Amino acid sequence: MSIVFLNDSFMPMEEAKISPMDRGFLFGDGIYEVVPSYDGKLVGFAPHIERMNNGMREIGIDFNWSVEQWRDVCQGLIEKNGSGNLGIYLHVSRGADSKRFHAYPEGVPPTVFAFAFEIPAAPVADKTQAKGYKVSTTRDLRWERCHIKSTALLGNVMHFQHGYSQGANETLLFNANNELTEASACNAYVVKDGVVATPPLDNQILPGITRYMLLDILRKDGSIKVEERIVTMEEVFAADEVWVTSSSKEIAAVVEVDGKPIGNGQIGDVWEAAQKLYSASKYDY
Ligand code: PDD
Repeated sequence: MSIVFLNDSFMPMEEAKISPMDRGFLFGDGIYEVVPSYDGKLVGFAPHIERMNNGMREIGIDFNWSVEQWRDVCQGLIEKNGSGNLGIYLHVSRGADSKRFHAYPEGVPPTVFAFAFEIPAAPVADKTQAKGYKVSTTRDLRWERCHIKSTALLGNVMHFQHGYSQGANETLLFNANNELTEASACNAYVVKDGVVATPPLDNQILPGITRYMLLDILRKDGSIKVEERIVTMEEVFAADEVWVTSSSKEIAAVVEVDGKPIGNGQIGDVWEAAQKLYSASKYDY
C-alpha cells in the first residue's frame, strides 16, 4: 500500500508532500470519498464520483475531472498496490494558499491526493458467518461544537465566504431561534442605550480570548455595563452599535448589517470608549 497519487503523478507514500498552508490542513477545506474495491473491481464508482463532484460544487471548489480520469487514478492505485480488499481514498482540497484567510482564494489550484488501504472482506450473505455489530447511541452533535477551536473550519469558511462574496467583512450568524450566536471568525455584541450585550458561552460559540478580556476589562472599569445573555436578531437590527471581536481585529465596529445601517451608520461612542479601555489593559493578560 505504499504507492499513492498526488496532484498529477504516482509516487511512494514517503515522497508525497503537501504544504502546511494547504487549506485542507488549515481549514478542513476539502471533499473526500472512499470507494471500495474487491479483487480489482470498484463498487459504486460512478455515484461516488458524482457525490464528490456535488460536494465540490457545494463548497465552490472548481475542479472537474472526468469519471475516466478518476477511474485511471483508482485503477493505477490497484495495479501498483496489489488488488484485494481495498478502500480507495480520494481527496480534493481547495489547495495551498500563501496566506491564511477564510475566503476562497483565486488562482490557487486544488490539491488532489489518493491512496489505497486495506478494508475487511465483504460480508458473505450467510447469517451463521456474518459478524454482528454492537453500537452505542448519542445525540447527533456534528457541527454543534463551536466552543472547540477545531481546525474543522469548513462551516466557518463557507459562512465567511457568504458575506465576503457580497463585499462584507464578516458574516453574523444566528441559530434556529433567530438568536445571534457569533460571526464566522469573531464573537459578536450589540450595544443598546449604553449597555453591551453578547451571547452567553455555550456550544454555539467559541469562547474568544478577546471576548474574555474585553468583558473582564469593561467589568473592572465599570463605566460600561455588560451582559452575557441571549441576543435576538431583532436586537441586532435595532442596536445603537454592533461589534465583532477577534485576536486579529480587537474590537471592530460594525456600521452596516445586510445593507442596513446600524444606529446612525457611524462608528459609535461606546465602541470608542471600549476600545480605549481595551488598548490600555490588553497587555495585562
Ligand atoms: N478566529 N469565533 C470564531 C468562530 C473564531 O474563529 C474566532 C477567532 C473568534 C474570536 O476568538 P479570539 O478572540 O480568541 O481570537 C470567535 C481567529 C482569529 C481566526 O480563525 O482567524
